[in-house]
Amino acid sequence: MRNKIVAGNWKMNTTPVEGIALVSEVLEAIKNIDLEHKKVVFGVPAVSITSVASVIGDTSNVYVASQNVSSYDSGAYTGEISAAMLVASGAAMAIIGHSERREYFNETNEVLAVKVDKVLDKGVVAIYCCGEVLEERKNGTFETVIQNQIEEGLFHLSEDQMKNVVIAYEPVWAIGTGETASPEQAQAVHAFIRRLVANKYGAELAENTSVLYGGSMKPGNAKELMGMADIDGGLVGGASLKSSDFVEIIKAM
Ligand code: 13P
Repeated sequence: MRNKIVAGNWKMNTTPVEGIALVSEVLEAIKNIDLEHKKVVFGVPAVSITSVASVIGDTSNVYVASQNVSSYDSGAYTGEISAAMLVASGAAMAIIGHSERREYFNETNEVLAVKVDKVLDKGVVAIYCCGEVLEERKNGTFETVIQNQIEEGLFHLSEDQMKNVVIAYEPVWAIGTGETASPEQAQAVHAFIRRLVANKYGAELAENTSVLYGGSMKPGNAKELMGMADIDGGLVGGASLKSSDFVEIIKAM
């Protein structure tokens, strides 16, 4: 049975002190919620990983994720943070290939494939993002775009490695815009992604792979989106910065 996951992506928001407060509020509000077969993830700025991990402590089914990782292991790469460093700081997961990294930092499927390897090598779960821009949605090439992102970023992995991958479908046109993919639109892409995984790795592995939706997920639409057969949770940007909104989304899971 695949896990349901609600993951916050704070992006470049919150100081460590603010992060501690935000996580503390969320944990307090969800302390009586049963998280069996469910995960709550906080994707925080790198400088907050240690402090947020210590607030979480050994709380079951709650994890810290980084938002990126270096494609190098160590050495003269000024400003980079390695997978080993992330693990040592307390990250159990890593968001890889977010559209903002693809767009603003020129990350290609090729480099993302290396980044996925780096985190999996260290036992960190990769949350691999894919999704089309508006033009690709309109001109009907979005399935090809998503297929390339998934094949080139992930399909070099072994079956065992693939078990430690979560896929996030984030249509770029729905990120931070207030415009959400309709549950039917999102479901269609999620089913498409699961078919790709099934064709490559078999139906059982595909059935056990969590595929999250991201793009203006809010308390008001989370339940309907996550109620779709192939939508296993959310990767939440803006609404993860307000504890009450994030808690509502966790409750909708
Ligand atoms: P919003 O929820 O702010 O649209 O962001 C989605 C996202 O990019 C999560 O990674």
